[in-house]
Amino acid sequence: MSETVLITGASSGIGKAFAFKYAKMGKNLILTARSKDKLDKMKEEIKKKFSVDIKVFIKDLSKEYSAKELYEEIKNNNLQVDILINNAGFGTSGKFHEKEFSSQHGQIILNCLSLADLTYFIVKEMAERKSGTIINVASTVAFQAVPYMAVYGATKAFVLSFSEALHQEYKEYGIKVTAICPGATETGFFDTAGPVGLGKYRTADMVTETAIKAAGKNKQFAVDGIKNYMVTLLSRFLTRKKTTEISGKILKKSLNAL
Ligand SMILES: NC(=O)c1ccc[n+]([C@@H]2O[C@H](COP(=O)([O-])OP(=O)(O)OC[C@H]3O[C@@H](n4cnc5c(N)ncnc54)[C@H](OP(=O)(O)O)[C@@H]3O)[C@@H](O)[C@H]2O)c1
Repeated sequence: MSETVLITGASSGIGKAFAFKYAKMGKNLILTARSKDKLDKMKEEIKKKFSVDIKVFIKDLSKEYSAKELYEEIKNNNLQVDILINNAGFGTSGKFHEKEFSSQHGQIILNCLSLADLTYFIVKEMAERKSGTIINVASTVAFQAVPYMAVYGATKAFVLSFSEALHQEYKEYGIKVTAICPGATETGFFDTAGPVGLGKYRTADMVTETAIKAAGKNKQFAVDGIKNYMVTLLSRFLTRKKTTEISGKILKKSLNAL
């Protein structure tokens, strides 16, 4: 029987690219996001190309307990998740106190809490079956503090740390847990985050290729793109204070250029 992949934030960007890649591999899909129209359209597009089952669940994962609700809806439909892609997320930029409370609060719930909650329920089942794969979408910002994107940077540090810990914990169950760390990638992300990306953007296709390969090899984490990887090495060679200063200066410069 074909495996089933649950993808959060499947309606655009990296999540959408994961959906097409896994469909091409013959995997059934459970797609979730808030945009029903986009997911329904995608479902039709994928079905025309690939012979796979697709279920769509509409959920706002920035609400507390929404991931638990999503899991319950998936179970009520008698579905089993073999591969979990925790991808939904967004970032904001600017001074911490100047952003809307709801967006700072919702960002932490979506990027951290919902990711951990969904993983909790699904890894429990995977542990019983002694198999499964989890890919968590972190970021290159996970490697250092990011002034002017303080919340986003901290949420991605959580995703990386959480994933690396689970990678070790669940090795003995035969469960693969990998954090993928993309750098600036051409998606809708910057519509909300603002012009904070540096250098030449990678594509969602490249990121998902890197992620699926890394998960196949059960890597603890993978940085997408060699240049991005080199940048993450800075935090190993410089002091934490220095890397924070550098990332703050870069962010401030790109935001002042507005
Ligand atoms: N693009 C980059 O440069 C970059 C770099 C590093 C990491 N990342 C990470 O990559 C992941 C995917 O982002 P992307 O770049 O593909 O951006 P994107 O094109 O904006 O996609 C974000 C996805 O998350 C979903 N989403 C947003 N808010 C949600 C909510 N409240 N509840 C449920 N789903 C929600 C969106 O769907 P709906 O709007 O339909 O809900 C969409 O499908 C994120 O975790 C992001 O932090 C991106």
